[in-house]
Amino acid sequence: MENIKDNKVAVIGGGGFIGSHLVDKLLSDDNLVVVIDNFLFGNKITNQKHKRLKLYNQDINILSNLKNILKDVEYVFYLSSIVGVDVVRKIPIDVIYSDSIGLWRTLQSIDIKKDIRFVYTSSSSVFGDEINIITENTPLRPTSHYNTAKIFSEYLIDAYNEQLKTNFKIVRLFNVYGPRQDKRMVIPRFFNYCKYGEKIKIYGDGKQTRDFTYINDVIDALIHISLSSSSVIKVNIASGIETSINDLAEMVMEVIGKQVGKEYLKIPHHRSVHEYHRRVGSTDVLSDHFHYKCKILLKDGLKMYYKSLCKFSESGKKR
Ligand SMILES: NC(=O)c1ccc[n+]([C@@H]2O[C@H](COP(=O)([O-])OP(=O)(O)OC[C@H]3O[C@@H](n4cnc5c(N)ncnc54)[C@H](O)[C@@H]3O)[C@@H](O)[C@H]2O)c1
Repeated sequence: MENIKDNKVAVIGGGGFIGSHLVDKLLSDDNLVVVIDNFLFGNKITNQKHKRLKLYNQDINILSNLKNILKDVEYVFYLSSIVGVDVVRKIPIDVIYSDSIGLWRTLQSIDIKKDIRFVYTSSSSVFGDEINIITENTPLRPTSHYNTAKIFSEYLIDAYNEQLKTNFKIVRLFNVYGPRQDKRMVIPRFFNYCKYGEKIKIYGDGKQTRDFTYINDVIDALIHISLSSSSVIKVNIASGIETSINDLAEMVMEVIGKQVGKEYLKIPHHRSVHEYHRRVGSTDVLSDHFHYKCKILLKDGLKMYYKSLCKFSESGKKR
């Protein structure tokens, strides 16, 4: 696969789950990597002392001197966002700012004249509670502070492309999982319940489906899309396979080898705007225009994730 090599690359939100994996990959390909992140949920970058890494522990909404920091950058990945249903509910102003003002400031600070590559990470949540297979043309449906900020940002990127003739990309991520994902998210939570012998707690009847993508596939797809000369702007990074939350719970128990059972919880009112019945993305644009396919099946990804958890707790014991 083609890679970004020996370039100056900015990763806004590079201290988070997806960002830290992207940073690892970019550093391993000899890029100079600029990370801006205020580390809301901790710094997940593994190689913080790397000589080709420039780390700015700052809020993108107020960081001064941004133009200078982003000078000569050839690739920008914008991943800064506040994710997670419960957090989004508590700090909605920060949620909106991080995804809109932060993006706007970044776009204003880069050198548009250069052939700069820009990838904005949107989310499948921009489609609200869509019950059909999601294509890139499915109508957008704002239902929360989180997806409204994402929709604003998508329109901002569209406006840049139209007015300034840029070719900035918008990727809609589906449920990404893998090592370093925050414990609040569904797969880490399910592993945690199971590991400690607790019943797996499920909101609703567990029949809701999701389209899960493993982190390695997503990182490869992000890089691949950034390098592409396709004029297509919006693309789903999805597997095209839907799995019910009930089936996910069964798979987690199988991977760990412990049958702890399931417990169903009533969906609290504040979660209802985020509780979609069905989530599955069409992968046609990803494969036809970007010649990419997510390869890692959920069962295999869950095994890899579990392996990483075991490794982490073993190294914890040694310390
Ligand atoms: N993980 C998923 O399943 C998923 C699904 C759809 C979309 N996305 C999108 O992918 C991107 C990355 O998600 P993630 O799962 O890695 O989340 P994450 O929370 O692990 O990473 C986001 C990072 O942004 C940083 N950040 C937030 N506000 C900031 C600010 N004002 N200034 C500087 N840094 C700030 C946070 O500190 C965090 O490190 C986000 O845009 C998210 O909306 C993720």
